Amino acid sequence: MDLPPPMVRDLAIDLGTSTTSILARGQGVILSEPSVLARVVETGEVVAVGSDAARMMGRTPEGLQAMRPLRGGAITDFESAEGLIRSFLHRVGVRRLNRPRIVVCVPSSITPVEQRAVKEAAHRAGASEVQLLGYTMAVALGAGLPLDQPQGSMVVDIGAGTTEAAVVSLGGVVALELRRMGGLDLDADIRSYVWRRHRLDISAESAEQVKLALGTARPPEPAAGAERSVTVRGRLAGTGAMEQITLSGIEVADAIYDNVMVMVDAVVACLGWAPPEIANDLIGNGIHLAGGGALLDGLAERVATNCRIPVTIVDDPLRIAVEGAGRCLGMFSQLDGFFLTDYAGSFR
Ligand SMILES: Nc1ncnc2c1ncn2[C@@H]1O[C@H](COP(=O)(O)OP(=O)(O)OP(=O)(O)O)[C@@H](O)[C@H]1O
Ligand SMILES: [Mg+2]
Repeated sequence: MDLPPPMVRDLAIDLGTSTTSILARGQGVILSEPSVLARVVETGEVVAVGSDAARMMGRTPEGLQAMRPLRGGAITDFESAEGLIRSFLHRVGVRRLNRPRIVVCVPSSITPVEQRAVKEAAHRAGASEVQLLGYTMAVALGAGLPLDQPQGSMVVDIGAGTTEAAVVSLGGVVALELRRMGGLDLDADIRSYVWRRHRLDISAESAEQVKLALGTARPPEPAAGAERSVTVRGRLAGTGAMEQITLSGIEVADAIYDNVMVMVDAVVACLGWAPPEIANDLIGNGIHLAGGGALLDGLAERVATNCRIPVTIVDDPLRIAVEGAGRCLGMFSQLDGFFLTDYAGSFR
């Protein structure tokens, strides 16, 4: 008896530092989970991925480790990155029998060795063909920018672990600036500020909550929201006792200010690489801001002020990369020049 041919669904994956999303052609986003994997240290056996593993972060007993395989635009642990990709693909039904084609969004900064590791992981999970797309190119596709026209467009993706700014024209990347930092670094800034100033050890989750409540790209002056405040609980240095303190908007603005400026300066530097004709186009077309970092209060205004170019936050900034990668599905062969091996950027 002939078996029916296995269903092939081409997939797009956004392998983000904090979140991995998978989109199936014709279906939309079918998975969105924290990019966290938990494993047994000695054997490497995977015990949990996604939200189950994220709940274990900072709470594992000895012998068990919960971690993010990506950080600062690099794969910090190859084995767990492969485990993560394979587990998520398995979860959405990829098997060696149905062999989908897959586009994976990755940081534009990953090395050829890291690129190979991602491709191999997807192949081993069952993919028949794998293409890698840099975050900014994925955002540009998602925003529907006129990439094949002789017209410059600028996209900025500020995620949890990376900041990428790119100018694209005629289907290629004309200028690219990358920084190994993102929203997680702002959380770390808040954590270390609270430790230095208040001698309180707060969790990474609490630091992120403080950022979401009070984080701003406005200068740390009274206008930054000194009147707003938030309470946070942590362990008091030297005692082990739990303590609660109140943080003001101005303190939070001050804590993250330097790294916010690193993000803003990356956009200005990228602009500096673009030829004047393209810079002129950008005044009309504006800068398209994406990633969770785009939602930081005052950031779009700050970028607009420093670049003197209008800035728009794209629709659905957290999903636009996977949506953009989804647009590549079904036209693999026409998109040479867009995929990651075709361009490289400056890096600091
Ligand atoms: N309203 C907000 N204000 C400030 N930061 C925010 C806001 N919403 C989300 N974030 C931050 O955005 C980050 C997540 O963004 P995103 O999902 O784009 O990252 P990612 O794609 O996983 O990482 P990357 O692209 O760097 O690999 C987190 O650090 C989160 O705290
Ligand atoms: Mg991202």
